[in-house]
Amino acid sequence: MLEINQSYINSYTHSVKNAHKEYKPTSKDTVNFTGRVGHEVFKNGKKNIVLIQETAFFREPKTLAYSVNYVKKHFYTEPKIKILVGACSSGEEALSYKMLTGKKAEVLGFDLGKNVIKQANENVYQISVPKDSKNAKYAKDIGLSAYKDFYLGFESRSLTSEQKRYKKLFNHFFEKIQTPEHKTKLIDKVRNFLLEKLGQTPDIQVESKTYKLKNPDKLNCKFIVGDINNLDTFTSKGNAHILSFRNAFYHIMNDGLDQYARVPKTKTKLEPILDNIGKQANKVLKKDGLFVLGEHEEAQGSDMDLLSAVLQKNGFAKVVDRGDEYCNIWRKVKDIT
Ligand SMILES: C[S@@+](CC[C@H](N)C(=O)[O-])C[C@H]1O[C@@H](n2cnc3c(N)ncnc32)[C@H](O)[C@@H]1O
Repeated sequence: MLEINQSYINSYTHSVKNAHKEYKPTSKDTVNFTGRVGHEVFKNGKKNIVLIQETAFFREPKTLAYSVNYVKKHFYTEPKIKILVGACSSGEEALSYKMLTGKKAEVLGFDLGKNVIKQANENVYQISVPKDSKNAKYAKDIGLSAYKDFYLGFESRSLTSEQKRYKKLFNHFFEKIQTPEHKTKLIDKVRNFLLEKLGQTPDIQVESKTYKLKNPDKLNCKFIVGDINNLDTFTSKGNAHILSFRNAFYHIMNDGLDQYARVPKTKTKLEPILDNIGKQANKVLKKDGLFVLGEHEEAQGSDMDLLSAVLQKNGFAKVVDRGDEYCNIWRKVKDIT
């Protein structure tokens, strides 16, 4: 699905310190906008874990819309709708929840990666589109989701009514700012050339527009470094209406993380890890709150039969029947001790 070293072309420069204030790009303070298709390395003891951080605004719209409509309907009398977005990467998913749920939503995004959390807290985002048809084909061939939200910043002739609504919301919350100049390093140019000659996918070259949140303080979205395995150390008990953990379980279920060399953990090793996550999810959610997973976890290398069995054991019931596919939206039906 994703080459892990696709971050270079997306490097831009901007000021980290003045994230909320008037922002003028300088070439001195460099932050890589790697969140969209990027990665960072997380040190876990002696192991280096590659965190793959691809994301997009309004990703998997059906799942997003279902969970937002559900909480609006089932918890409409509650003063706040508390949404925990795990594996939030650079923040696009958390902000999508906020934009769709409205004023009542209080969103906490967490991610294992320090760099993406730093990036999420800067409230500056890029909307990108593959530069030409060749790059669009590369993106399609490796199944990237990262540029599916391109219509938010670029013209598109055939928008669905849902996309029109998303675009309107996006324009309400975000304003366009200058995109800093960037230069591709010579070494990356050479590497891409060689990859192309070898018939392998080089970095996707994109055209980008940069946006910042008009009013981050009013949005009630916070971003912190956090691991779903230790959810109870940074969240309150029985408080959340939604816990989302989408497109990230493959990090937990595999030992190797290169797309082509994922090594699934054995069931004996994995079951207690998933069981702990199931218990933590149960603890953090209110009764009838939702545990939301991605729509393609299985294809990304996760054992969804095992995860489903663990969730059922830990007080969750299926919400959406997706035919032969695994269920990706679960409801907490009871507390477990
Ligand atoms: C492919 S991104 C998914 C982003 C977003 N949820 C989406 O669907 O667009 C996967 C993210 O999971 C994060 N991650 C991996 N293991 C994690 C863990 N144990 N706890 C929290 N975040 C984790 C990675 O750092 C990465 O940012």
